[in-house]
Amino acid sequence: MRITIIGSGYVGLALARHWRREGQHQISLTTTRAARLESLHGQADRVLLTRADDPDQLRQALEGAEVAVFCQAPRGDRLVDPGVYRTTYCDPFVALQGLLQALPALSQIVYAGSGSLYGDTGGAWVDEDTPPQPRDGHGEVLLEAEQLLSACRSPQRRVCVLRFGALYGPGRDLLRRLTPLAGTTRAGGGQEHCGWLHRDDAVGALAAAVQQGWDQTVNVVDDEPCTVAMLMARLADATGLEPVTWRPHEPDAAARPDRRVSNRRLHQLGYRLQHPRVVFPRLVALDDALLGAVSARAAASGRRRMNHNLHHHDDAVQRFLNALQPGTYVRPHRHRRETPGAGFECFVVLQGSIGLLVLDAAGLVIHSQRLQAGGPVHGVELAEDQFHTLVALSPDAVLLELKQGPYRPTEDKDFLASFPAEGTPAAAAQERCWRALFEGDGR
Ligand SMILES: NC(=O)c1ccc[n+]([C@@H]2O[C@H](COP(=O)([O-])OP(=O)(O)OC[C@H]3O[C@@H](n4cnc5c(N)ncnc54)[C@H](OP(=O)(O)O)[C@@H]3O)[C@@H](O)[C@H]2O)c1
Repeated sequence: MRITIIGSGYVGLALARHWRREGQHQISLTTTRAARLESLHGQADRVLLTRADDPDQLRQALEGAEVAVFCQAPRGDRLVDPGVYRTTYCDPFVALQGLLQALPALSQIVYAGSGSLYGDTGGAWVDEDTPPQPRDGHGEVLLEAEQLLSACRSPQRRVCVLRFGALYGPGRDLLRRLTPLAGTTRAGGGQEHCGWLHRDDAVGALAAAVQQGWDQTVNVVDDEPCTVAMLMARLADATGLEPVTWRPHEPDAAARPDRRVSNRRLHQLGYRLQHPRVVFPRLVALDDALLGAVSARAAASGRRRMNHNLHHHDDAVQRFLNALQPGTYVRPHRHRRETPGAGFECFVVLQGSIGLLVLDAAGLVIHSQRLQAGGPVHGVELAEDQFHTLVALSPDAVLLELKQGPYRPTEDKDFLASFPAEGTPAAAAQERCWRALFEGDGR
């Protein structure tokens, strides 16, 4: 079949690759940016520079095509104004209506639409027969786009609208997106349901729609509408990350619309989801998003530092991120263990720069060491009974700490009593003094 895919973004490009691997169709693929043309060559038989809202460019892209698959979306920030939404979603279908006479080979139009036009149903189930209730101008544009497209249907031309759920998958990883929320306190209850869709099922459903000639509207979401609270609990379960503390009585300004979208028709059509529910791998990525989120929490905290535990309290080895901001005061201490000599403490700097001061029992600094992401000294391993303290030498400094567990809050630290307690003016002065020791140390 000769197929034109309008839009070569997350979904369009993955679909082109899928059909390329299968080798059964002749694929044309479009982009609006000349700079992308070269990288797209090899992904399709023909690559075109096309704005679908421009009738001439759209005609050129669809010339000879038997199937058109529309996968366009506003570029960059999706929170563009409804006017840009209209240009992206409605204008191409207005243009298409005017071109149909000139496209006699076109026997099917498939559109990657969105379930967001159902609006907020307070968590009630919706299916394809439920009248959409767009909750804003964006939703109204999406509804109008579907109506414009439906008007293209004829006995010779099938029209299929796939209403997608929220997309995730490679490059739009839910683990990465949600991990920074672990251990935070959030307004609302996180109780709004959302239908999720793995990118491979978006591609799979589009391919099935073409292969089987679907001629209707079909919700394409996974089997289990999930709330953010459910996802976060599942994430905590899989990875051991700390759960979110919800404040149900505090209104959440960023609350998502609440609806449960049924995929019964998708099943009836015989499509088997590859990812029927969101599953988290049992791992925690120590990535920039997580380091950034923990640093932000450190900056907002009165102590100017924040731990993000990777371990459970009773684990034999404690593993955690420790984000420090300049000004944080770590009272000199050592760690003592139930079995003397069995302890260890290891710091590795993942981001920014930290000053380590090693002290003797009298409080004299016997060694200072700058630890820095990227080196030359990345981290240290300290003996269990060695007194020490840390200062942040850059904003957003983050350590990975490993030390022997289990954690006993009352016994964990043996402080050097000669140094001021945290939160006092003397402590603040002491911290500045220690930080000054690293000034002009060559880096
Ligand atoms: N992301 C989600 O969670 C989600 C949820 C529900 C539904 N959907 C729907 O799924 C579809 C695909 O989304 P996606 O995530 O793959 O989008 P995407 O990655 O943002 O890619 C959008 C593509 O559309 C192209 N485009 C933008 N404006 C255009 C125009 N006026 N004419 C022609 N092409 C245009 C872009 O061109 P360039 O190559 O020049 O950038 C890009 O190739 C969209 O229809 C979207 O509404 C997405």
